Amino acid sequence: MTKLETERLLFRDHELADLEPFCEMESDPAYRFPQAVHPRIELERSFREGWLPVKAMGLLATVYKPEGRYIGRCGLYPNRDEDGELIPGEAQLAYYLARPYWGRGLASEAADAFVAYGFNVLGLQRIEAGTNVLNAASNRVLEKLGFRRIRSGEGGGSAWHLYELRNPTGDPQA
Ligand SMILES: CC(C)(COP(=O)(O)OP(=O)(O)OC[C@H]1O[C@@H](n2cnc3c(N)ncnc32)[C@H](O)[C@@H]1OP(=O)(O)O)[C@@H](O)C(=O)NCCC(=O)NCCS
Repeated sequence: MTKLETERLLFRDHELADLEPFCEMESDPAYRFPQAVHPRIELERSFREGWLPVKAMGLLATVYKPEGRYIGRCGLYPNRDEDGELIPGEAQLAYYLARPYWGRGLASEAADAFVAYGFNVLGLQRIEAGTNVLNAASNRVLEKLGFRRIRSGEGGGSAWHLYELRNPTGDPQA
């Protein structure tokens, strides 16, 4: 079932048929950079256990409408505090697209749609997003949408930025 749609993209729950394009995307070293590609058996496990189960709020299979093709996953997932507790009124935004579809404004199109959905439909007050410092395209997508960098750090061998965007119609004191 389509959960959200833009001009060129539609977003739905993952299906078993997405396994092959998912593994193809995740096996591309440029897509994984600066992290390593996982072995196929790991990818299949993460697809079946992590992506196939339908969640109340989670990243959605992303289909490029002109080709009817699965090209990645995008969306919102619950934001949690340091103790793992859900933070009400908040979500994390993320987008992962297969390399042949980079450079066409698709991540920007997806991110814009999920920000609007999060604020206007879900009534979120705040959206966070984390990026790798080296991922210039990902950082740029957030900055274009007005996200503000609030923290940077290092962990797991890579450096990251954390961004936030507050609902412009939300509590001005927040
Ligand atoms: C990051 C990613 C989603 C970008 O997708 P995309 O559809 O190519 O992004 P868009 O075309 O919407 O926008 C990218 C922006 O970054 C800019 N950009 C791209 N590469 C850049 C670079 N090396 N340096 C500076 N800017 C760059 C583009 O020019 C564009 O900005 P513009 O609209 O002002 O011209 C895609 O590369 C991806 O999925 N990578 C692998 C997974 C990943 O890293 N996901 C993000 C996890 S936080």
